[in-house]
Amino acid sequence: MERYLIRGGRQLKGTVRIGGAKNSILPVLAAVLLNRSSDEVVLHDVPRIRDVYLMVEILRSLGARVSWQDGGSLVVNSRDMSSYSIDDTLMRQMRSSIFLMGVLLGRLGQVRISYPGGCAIGQRAIDLHLKGLSALGAHIREQREQGYIYANCRHLTGCDIMLDYPSVGATENILMAAVFARGVTVISNAAKEPEIVDLQNILNAMGARIRGAGTDQIRIEGVQQLHGTEFTVIPDRIVAGTFMMCVAAARGDVWLENVIPAHLEAVTSKLRETGAEIREDSGRLHIRCRERPRAVDTVRTLPYPGFPTDLQAPMMAVLAGAEGTSIIIENVFEARFMHAAELNRMNAQIITDGRTAVVRGVPRLTGAVVTASDLRAGAALVVAALGAEGETTVEGLHHIERGYENLDADLLKLGASIEKIGGQDPPA
Ligand code: EPZ
Repeated sequence: MERYLIRGGRQLKGTVRIGGAKNSILPVLAAVLLNRSSDEVVLHDVPRIRDVYLMVEILRSLGARVSWQDGGSLVVNSRDMSSYSIDDTLMRQMRSSIFLMGVLLGRLGQVRISYPGGCAIGQRAIDLHLKGLSALGAHIREQREQGYIYANCRHLTGCDIMLDYPSVGATENILMAAVFARGVTVISNAAKEPEIVDLQNILNAMGARIRGAGTDQIRIEGVQQLHGTEFTVIPDRIVAGTFMMCVAAARGDVWLENVIPAHLEAVTSKLRETGAEIREDSGRLHIRCRERPRAVDTVRTLPYPGFPTDLQAPMMAVLAGAEGTSIIIENVFEARFMHAAELNRMNAQIITDGRTAVVRGVPRLTGAVVTASDLRAGAALVVAALGAEGETTVEGLHHIERGYENLDADLLKLGASIEKIGGQDPPA
């Protein structure tokens, strides 16, 4: 079993470059399938992570031609895409491929997808996706007993859609389905994440007519055809935030390159409350932490621009070693505290109850053998290990490698004592 061996207590110093955003490239790779022309779409700064490899496999299984270029670029030609059925082993490995429903309905008028399973952080409902797609005219049949959803439509017709909750995936799914719909679609109470702005930008670069991404109302005017383009995805704000928390936990002085500070405002402000010194520059950010972090009153996760749920676990790892007691309220997912038990094995003092965690900071966490339950819980264990006394073994790297490219190599360059040992993990 592949695992990290981390010896804590080493300060981090130097510069790390942040790669392209996982949660942007995944919907972008789906959106590219809307291009029926023989033009290519070239995507730059694509992170080499497991979820991207999975998405590339799904695109190929549908008939698109996808090839890697050196330097982390992908070339996609989706002219010959013909299959509307997603392989369910692939689907089950990455539930977020649900946003292919909108693309396949928009492009082919039908889609067959297996019900995306829940995962370690919650049941991951898709009711808002299905409600929005049927409002556009899709006929949806859920064969729950076999675990499949089949949907088809003669054509999609634009309409006004109000989301009960600003779901990121539902906003993306409906937006992509509406690209070829007849007339205008307005999504109200839309998610405002930067990754949705990225999705709007690439689709408009391909000839779509979308306005309002980044606000709670997005207007999509249906078009007939899209064409190729070249596009660079935004930097990964969650990876950037994770590195900032590594510095807060282990102390040090680090430059992050290729970041958009505006995407990290809630994180920067919360880390400043712990005593971190953070300086923003154009396209980069500097963080210095010289003392033990101070506790914060409350961390409340919220849809963007609130504190991101994906950084709740790494932030808990920082607060576990802070001076004082902090409260964390997880408002986005109903079961996203699996990492607390693992942190408590490292001498953290964390009590969770429903969506609330009370984190009583201890002077030093101590190394232990811990296991990642999901992607961001794994990141939290690495953050904790960097600041802990002694040696920590972090197991379950296949979770971490879903969203972090070269995490160990980057941390090593910053002076951490981390090495990857053991055989290749079985596929998740
Ligand atoms: C996206 O997931 C991200 N994934 C998640 O990142 C992120 O945590 C989440 O947005 C919130 O920011 C990708 O972009 C690939 P949601 P998504 O729909 O779209 C409920 C990571 O670690 N809901 O905004 O699934 C849902 O159950 C991953 O990188 C419904 O009830 O998030 C959850 O409680 C984890 N019905 C809440 O909304 C629906 O139809 C937020 O979900 C859809 C969602």
